[in-house]
Amino acid sequence: MRPLTAAHSCGTCANCTTGHPNICDNTEVKLLPGAARRYSWKGQVVHQFANLSSFAEQMLVHENALVKVEKDIPLDIGALVGCGVVTGVGAVFNAAKVEPGATVAVIGCGGIGLSAVNGAAVAGASRIIAIDTVSSKLDVAKQMGATDVINASNVDAVAAVKDLMDGIGVHYSFEAIGHKVTAEQSFAMLRPGGVATIIGMVPYGTKIELHGADFLRDRKIQGTSMGGNRFRVDMPRMLTLWKQGRLKLDHLITGHIKLEQINEGYAQLKSGAPLRNLIKFDS
Ligand SMILES: NC(=O)c1ccc[n+]([C@@H]2O[C@H](COP(=O)([O-])OP(=O)(O)OC[C@H]3O[C@@H](n4cnc5c(N)ncnc54)[C@H](O)[C@@H]3O)[C@@H](O)[C@H]2O)c1
Repeated sequence: MRPLTAAHSCGTCANCTTGHPNICDNTEVKLLPGAARRYSWKGQVVHQFANLSSFAEQMLVHENALVKVEKDIPLDIGALVGCGVVTGVGAVFNAAKVEPGATVAVIGCGGIGLSAVNGAAVAGASRIIAIDTVSSKLDVAKQMGATDVINASNVDAVAAVKDLMDGIGVHYSFEAIGHKVTAEQSFAMLRPGGVATIIGMVPYGTKIELHGADFLRDRKIQGTSMGGNRFRVDMPRMLTLWKQGRLKLDHLITGHIKLEQINEGYAQLKSGAPLRNLIKFDS
């Protein structure tokens, strides 16, 4: 077995013990006294983001943040699963609970939205509409299970989804960008009884405005933290689905870079073209 890191959880609070470690109450759980804050640089404490940190050749983490996976899982595939894939696929499996035959729209086809597209395909959705403003992302979406694509740079996404759905809308929509407008669109493209799941991190203080009358026909909107994951169960399961060729995680990897190229990696991300550039520490 080999360990991967996942979001940290205490294992004992009410949320952890009822199967929701993704919303662990005890965010103060860190390393044990004496073991915490052992990192320093030039006399100053080096903090670990979310008790984990990234971009490090070695990490000191609490055992609760470790997930055992099989030895033959390549580390680059494993690295994808710890955040983006559990979030996108988990939003479909755990948060929305998409059922076979349902219709789905995903707004934003970065690493997380594409994971939601792929999760919807594994869940058996009959229509999966991928929406993005970058055509190369839509090409990847088709390879990961989208049945229809919409380039939102030149059309109104809500009208385009409704056109594809005989004017009615979809059963499930997912917003994977974090914008007010697209969050509002995700609700507006639901059919009666539909559920919109906001995955994207909408900036603090931003308000989402919805038409009150739309709630009368059983439409719902919800958030999700890391796809509602039970990391020690879901991460190995998702990696098994990759081994079976059902989760097409290889499509998420645009390239591999070295640690010293990290700033170039960030600059590339800003161009909107790459999905995930993975840092390889051993070459
Ligand atoms: N809920 C959670 O627990 C959780 C966890 C991790 C990340 N996130 C958030 O999920 C979001 C997506 O993450 P990501 O890594 O996939 O981001 P990303 O930047 O790789 O992908 C965003 C995609 O949205 C597309 N886009 C931008 N504007 C658009 C528009 N108006 N219409 C359609 N498409 C548009 C971009 O072209 C891009 O492909 C971010 O907000 C991230 O912070 C949430």
